[in-house]
Amino acid sequence: MASLSFERNSNNKTVALFFFIFTVTLSLCSPSSVAKLQHFHHRAKADGTLSFLVVGDWGRQGLYNQSEVALQMGIVGEKLDIDFVISTGDNFYDDGLVGVDDPAFHKSFSNIYTAPSLQKQWYNVLGNHDYRGNVLAQLSPILRKKDSRFLCLRSFILTTKIVEFFFVDTTPFVDDYFTNPEDHTYDWRGVLPRQSYLSNLLKDVDSALKRSTAKWKIVVGHHAIKSAGHHGNTQELESQLLPILEENNVDFYLNGHDHCLEHIIDAKSQIQFLTSGGGSKAWIGDIKWWNPGELKLYYDGQGFVSLEITKKVASFSYYDVFGNVLHKWTLSKESDSSV
Ligand SMILES: *[C@@H]1O[C@H](CO)[C@@H](O)[C@H](O)[C@H]1NC(C)=O
Repeated sequence: MASLSFERNSNNKTVALFFFIFTVTLSLCSPSSVAKLQHFHHRAKADGTLSFLVVGDWGRQGLYNQSEVALQMGIVGEKLDIDFVISTGDNFYDDGLVGVDDPAFHKSFSNIYTAPSLQKQWYNVLGNHDYRGNVLAQLSPILRKKDSRFLCLRSFILTTKIVEFFFVDTTPFVDDYFTNPEDHTYDWRGVLPRQSYLSNLLKDVDSALKRSTAKWKIVVGHHAIKSAGHHGNTQELESQLLPILEENNVDFYLNGHDHCLEHIIDAKSQIQFLTSGGGSKAWIGDIKWWNPGELKLYYDGQGFVSLEITKKVASFSYYDVFGNVLHKWTLSKESDSSV
């Protein structure tokens, strides 16, 4: 077992607020899939509660209101005393990073999210646009040396006292990127052969979910499982990932990809589907019909989402580019056998 600890970047006096334990899990019975998901721990607040922001589809060097969203994230982040930020991917437009020295890293990340409250760990997944660049650069630990907040991996697990997060690399699920790439080039290094990559990933997510004893289980991916937006549902995820989430009582699925904010409740599974893809360029007016009993919010402008989670209650809010709250929701868990 190896232990990594990251310090807050900038001149923060608090040293090593964030402790990450990278656990190498030995596989006892499945010799064919030794590549288990990397596992990190994040220390929550002293009372175990957690608050964080979710933003997606953002890296445009401040344009398309990215800077305005960042400003409001800073204000809300301060108010909620957030523990970290989750990025649902498409971190750098249009085509990811060309290398670890790509100036877009500073122009779209370090120089944009400058508020004191955002100087926390960022947990990032890759989006399809990131796959159009040099994926290995965006995953490289060298970026963490340039800005210690930035942690991007394909798929990983993040454990806090009461919430466990399962980050899933969704881009390789989408058939279209393989069969109909148009004039885009995707960097599939580390993904091929695709079928074994996907089946190992699904197996690993399933077994991690089954092992989890967390009060709340949250899965994060770039692509939507359910969305009334431009791209709509990702059928590959509906058929391959969703059954696993349903079977394991996942509470939330967080995604980006559609450039909007959405809240969809699936009456059948009780999973809350949250789209936070409003980090920069929004797609005004691009909405499909959806059952109004399930679609609690569709906002086609820019913004982001906050979550605050205690043992029994999860509250989340959606904000626009002015920091106005567009929509708010609270979920409660009945007290369980430990009472
Ligand atoms: C920025 O946000 C405002 C308010 O929602 C909107 O009117 C404007 O069109 C946005 N600008 C861009 C470039 O998207």
